[in-house]
Amino acid sequence: MQMSLLPHKPHIFLLCIFTISLLVQSRLTLHPSDHNTHLHINKDFHVQRALEKDNETDITPKRYIFAENSQGRNESYRKKVVDWILEFLAGMLSGSGSGLIFSLLIKLIMFVIRGRKKSPSWKIYSTVIKKPEDLAFLEKENGLASLNIIGRGGGGEVYKAVLSNGKEIAVKKINHYLRDSEELGEEDSKFLNKKMRQIKSEIQTVGKIKHRNLLPLLAHLSRPSYHYLVYEYIKNGSLQDYLQYVKEGERELDWLARYKIALGVVAGLEYLHMNHTPCIIHRDLTPANILLDDEMEARLADFGLARAIPDANSHITSSNVAGTVGYIAPEYYQTFKFTDKCDIYSFGVVLGVLVSGKLPSDDFFQDTNEMILVDWMRNLMASEDPRRAIDPKMLGNGHDEQMLLVLKVACFCTAENPKERPNSRDARTLLSQIKH
Ligand SMILES: Nc1ncnc2c1ncn2[C@@H]1O[C@H](COP(=O)(O)OP(=O)(O)OP(=O)(O)O)[C@@H](O)[C@H]1O
Ligand SMILES: [Mg+2]
Repeated sequence: MQMSLLPHKPHIFLLCIFTISLLVQSRLTLHPSDHNTHLHINKDFHVQRALEKDNETDITPKRYIFAENSQGRNESYRKKVVDWILEFLAGMLSGSGSGLIFSLLIKLIMFVIRGRKKSPSWKIYSTVIKKPEDLAFLEKENGLASLNIIGRGGGGEVYKAVLSNGKEIAVKKINHYLRDSEELGEEDSKFLNKKMRQIKSEIQTVGKIKHRNLLPLLAHLSRPSYHYLVYEYIKNGSLQDYLQYVKEGERELDWLARYKIALGVVAGLEYLHMNHTPCIIHRDLTPANILLDDEMEARLADFGLARAIPDANSHITSSNVAGTVGYIAPEYYQTFKFTDKCDIYSFGVVLGVLVSGKLPSDDFFQDTNEMILVDWMRNLMASEDPRRAIDPKMLGNGHDEQMLLVLKVACFCTAENPKERPNSRDARTLLSQIKH
């Protein structure tokens, strides 16, 4: 909008300004000359009138009088021409001076506008952050060096920081490993600009989403070589880390707490798939992206960003595949198309993790016939003793039936054929109907 007020070709615009200013200057400086001419005419007229008057008594021939007057006029005409040339030159000089000043002014305005475009500021999505200056410390040299690293993902590190108002935040810095801009051809640059716009618009969508089971994005800063994503700091960390602590005996996570987590995850998923237009597919639903707040309520992280910033969410080296091994639906390997049913498959694996207490990456599966959590779980559920799939820490604690029902839902969600899987609304209904 601002740019459209400025001329598209500033040099043509400047030329016009210069010409106009020249004309105005010439017009203004010719004015005294007009005045002089007027004085000369007056003077000549009086002289002639006086001579004519004298003629009445004088005997001098009229021819002589005329000759004397015409010589005076020639002199004044020459003077006028010299005056006019001098005034024209003066006008030209002052015209070019003002043209120069004007061009400098335009350049300054353009510099300010372009400068502002090149260094965009923070996009704030929450009132938790009052003003962009609250986050300025992150951009200082060594701004992150003093912060604690709380995790490492596919795209980079996650840091913990405390704002001046005491609010704790998690800062994710995602680096883009770009080639030198000099190495980029015009097509590459165009593609990159398009990609950057796409990333920004997808992040903007994520920034506007508010739901109790979704981790809100508080702010975003986009730079050509990296992004900063600022989130609420979630005290109990990820489900993945929590399960690790449970395995090591440092923390406990009983069945009711796990069931509450499962319900929270499916509620967040339902919101993304069903209540948001357009539908948002998570693409990387794993225990690492399920955070647990103070009340052990599940908060889905990194939703909607897997497509925008694939590197940030992929633990697979192939640039064509997004997601985390062990959670990716089988059809995705053939089609490379991510649908809501792919998220449902990942959710089925998460349910298997919650009941079995095992992660797909656990060494345990190396010693099984199936070697894969989903196949192991499905085979056990079809066997005579499906209880073997339950985490030994929870077995016999009074919720075995409920846990087996949850495993049934997990099998339903991980069906080979995506059409046979429930959608997120049906999955939530099935889970919430399990009475405890
Ligand atoms: N808002 C947050 N509050 C507390 N801890 C967080 C927060 N965000 C991330 N973390 C921690 O940082 C870790 C790394 O997060 P990150 O999203 O970069 O990678 P990831 O979730 O492990 O994998 P992925 O790259 O698939 O997202 C998480 O596993 C979690 O332990
Ligand atoms: Mg994550």
